[in-house]
Amino acid sequence: MNPLFLSPEHILQGGYFNATLRKLQEPNTSIEPHNIMYPVFLLENDEGMQTVSSMPNVFRYGINKLMPALTELVNNGLKSILIFGIVETLPKDAIGSSADSVNNPVVKALSKIKAAFPDLTIACDVCLCPYTSHGHCGVLTEKGAIDHAASVKRIAEVALAYAKAGADIVAPSDMMDNRIKAIKDALIANSLQNQVSVLSYSCKFASSMYGPFRDTMKSSPMAGDRKCYQLPPGSAGLAARAAARDVAEGADFLMVKPGLPYLDIVRQTKDKYPNHPLFIYQVSGEYAMISRSGDENEMESILMETLTCMRRAGADCIITYFAPLILNLISKKQ
Ligand code: PBG
Ligand code: ZN
Repeated sequence: MNPLFLSPEHILQGGYFNATLRKLQEPNTSIEPHNIMYPVFLLENDEGMQTVSSMPNVFRYGINKLMPALTELVNNGLKSILIFGIVETLPKDAIGSSADSVNNPVVKALSKIKAAFPDLTIACDVCLCPYTSHGHCGVLTEKGAIDHAASVKRIAEVALAYAKAGADIVAPSDMMDNRIKAIKDALIANSLQNQVSVLSYSCKFASSMYGPFRDTMKSSPMAGDRKCYQLPPGSAGLAARAAARDVAEGADFLMVKPGLPYLDIVRQTKDKYPNHPLFIYQVSGEYAMISRSGDENEMESILMETLTCMRRAGADCIITYFAPLILNLISKKQ
């Protein structure tokens, strides 16, 4: 007789005493290249290359500097990128005309990237804020409120321009109501609905963790904030309704942004929409925090633990500035 009267159903440790058995206890949490998307900042100047002071190891590239960087990453397994355009000399105006002008760096670069890397999935962030004089993600009324109809019309035009230029995925990050339907309608009208997918930033919160990114993009609003369109951080209810709205309008993929403090939203969204691949954006503030979290080894294990937990919570793909490092870590492991 066991002196402790151990009851078999209370013994868990018999099920995970070695690494192989532990793997069986972590289903759907592996990190493979298709689970990672890399954000890329693209400059107007083809030869440009700039560091980002608030984001170590992140660069803004002109297309001629981006190509060799991408070659190395694609050889190392990179499967998808998310492109952000940055303008320095093109004009900024009230409606963000430079977002889809022929001189826009994203519009110009897409065919080159596609030709050089036919197997790389290319997503384009769609927003007006990098291109508007006021820095908001939509068009404003005279009083400074969001002009909903004008905003949705512009955002769909911009998404269509990127789709026509060769984007595989258009990803509207503006958080205006009904832009998913407007974009899908535009794709259908141009017979692109089966060649371009729509990744909705569906549950995007008005977070304080976008600071380093706004430095990078020079895209902070001149006046006011984004709280009338991005979601209040405490609201799980609005996040559920936003995902439902975007699913009803035909979004192919959903997103929760930021990631780590919002894993409850990831789980709630995945449970409700198990058939829609779910993205997490591990944002610039998360990147800054993890980058400073310890020495190289500590930082790498904190990063990988974070990604595993994002997968456990229900994420299928994680958009992360750590992509180059992650690809190195996973190719070393094999
Ligand atoms: C702009 C946009 C932002 C991010 C992605 N697209 C900033 C914002 O909404 O203020 C944040 C990305 C990051 O912090 O890494 N629409
Ligand atoms: Zn924006």
